[in-house]
Amino acid sequence: MSDAARTLLASSAARVEQTLTNALALQPEPQEVARPSRLIEAMKYAALAGGKRLRPALMVEAAKMLGREDDGVLTAAAALECIHCYSLAHDDLPAMDDDDLRRGQPTTHIAFDEATAILAGDGLLTLAFDLIARREVSESAEVRLVLSQELARASGVGGMAGGQMLDLESEHRDRTEAEIRLLQSMKTGALIRYACRAGALLTDAPQETVDTLTRFGEVIGFAFQLADDILDVVGDAEVVGKATGKDAEMGKATLVGLLGENAARAKLADLIAEADALLAPFGERGKPLSELAHFVASRTN
Ligand code: IPE
Ligand code: IPE
Ligand code: MG
Ligand code: MG
Ligand code: MG
Repeated sequence: MSDAARTLLASSAARVEQTLTNALALQPEPQEVARPSRLIEAMKYAALAGGKRLRPALMVEAAKMLGREDDGVLTAAAALECIHCYSLAHDDLPAMDDDDLRRGQPTTHIAFDEATAILAGDGLLTLAFDLIARREVSESAEVRLVLSQELARASGVGGMAGGQMLDLESEHRDRTEAEIRLLQSMKTGALIRYACRAGALLTDAPQETVDTLTRFGEVIGFAFQLADDILDVVGDAEVVGKATGKDAEMGKATLVGLLGENAARAKLADLIAEADALLAPFGERGKPLSELAHFVASRTN
């Protein structure tokens, strides 16, 4: 990873982790009744034990490029990270990918138990909507509503959860390239697209800029899953922090499986070139997002 990408990820990671730690206090919020300590511990484990924090970094850097960098952006980024961490805790469950290792540590259901991991996911999913609705996210209630509804759409049946359904239905089935791209644009792409789009929506950027950042997110999202599938084949589990070789074992529909590693790498390079072209109009200010795009393609974990 380039030093620039490392620094960018680390700086927003520390801030988003602080926001998540604050949101996961034992003390209940107004209108909550009480917070069971075991569930808080499991939610913290699922959300705070490692992770690259790529989605928060994309949102933070997109907003910064367009002139906004206050803590309200971090609250929105933490909301998205809650959804992502919930999706991982559920993705690893025995009924889904049945994985024991995540971020170099036992998965949530191994460290706790299955029921607690399911509830930790439920807790993180709903906490996301508490966070995205908070006043510091935007002084405009209309913007907060749009961000909330779009977060629901990126996460739910027409986004991540729907993509996970297609992923499971596709195990040991022949799938065309278009079918694989569709399922990946949902299971992984939707949250990454949201990260970049919300970064723009948090500012008063014109529609054309929102559209450009949305497309950038789609391109990076596709690249991200391609890289994930390549890492599953060539990565070192010690470095990746999760089991490798699982996609072939489980008969997952991936482009690496369909087209081979070389074709997947060529596509990845094309996508990063497209991402850079989308950032060209922003000149120097687009540099941090470009660093993150290159990180997506070259990452080893
Ligand atoms: C892994 O996402 C799951 C996919 C969507 C492929 P990340 O690689 O971003 O996971 P963490 O958050 O860094 O652990
Ligand atoms: C997971 O995709 C995507 C979501 C969690 C929504 P994968 O199943 O490929 O992710 P890893 O490889 O377990 O991280
Ligand atoms: Mg999966
Ligand atoms: Mg998985
Ligand atoms: Mg994977």
